[in-house]
Amino acid sequence: MKGVFLTLEGLDGSGKSTQARLLARFLEERGLKVRLTREPGGGIEVRSLLRGDLSPEAEYLLFSADRAEHVRKVILPALEEGAFVVSDRYLDSSLAYQGYGRGLPLPWLEEVAERVTLGLRPHLTFLLDLPPEEALRRIGKRAKDRFEEEGLAFFRRVREGYLHLARLEPGRFVVLDATRSVGEVQGEIRTHLKALLP
Ligand code: TYD
Repeated sequence: MKGVFLTLEGLDGSGKSTQARLLARFLEERGLKVRLTREPGGGIEVRSLLRGDLSPEAEYLLFSADRAEHVRKVILPALEEGAFVVSDRYLDSSLAYQGYGRGLPLPWLEEVAERVTLGLRPHLTFLLDLPPEEALRRIGKRAKDRFEEEGLAFFRRVREGYLHLARLEPGRFVVLDATRSVGEVQGEIRTHLKALLP
């Protein structure tokens, strides 16, 4: 596998999507092949199915169906071509939201994920860390989806989950303080990327 797989993670409102776009542009400007992608929706458009009162299990399996297709049809082919793949969310979102947030057992999530992802893990994951109060304040301006309606307690569990995942794999995760300006956060992302650039 010749490419580099980068992911961005964090609470809703942490600015992941903006940072992913800026990162992709930065890499493209350096003449690198880049594939900017996202979950949910990178493989199968599952968003419309996620509405309503779904069990956490059903939710996880829908995200996983999307992910299985995303890995096989988008991420792996791009990596084979030597691209930098930048994904706005990936498996850590499920571990944080469905695992720590909704309380599904992590061993079951990991077991399913191993097969779903063919064992593919990011080379580097940027965690845009934000206090849940600030996340809620930011997304308050946008339309709330079903996760966001669960409020502060849920967001606290998700945030702690992400930080725990980061502590378990300090070599893969870069934890960034997402309360800072877009430019400052992007600057730090680029600094950490230097080692991976040709
Ligand atoms: P996101 O794309 O960040 O939301 P939007 O672009 O609509 O602001 O993701 C949608 C929601 O799905 C978000 O609350 C996080 C959640 N999610 C999970 O709970 N598990 C997952 O595995 C993924 C990929 C997303």
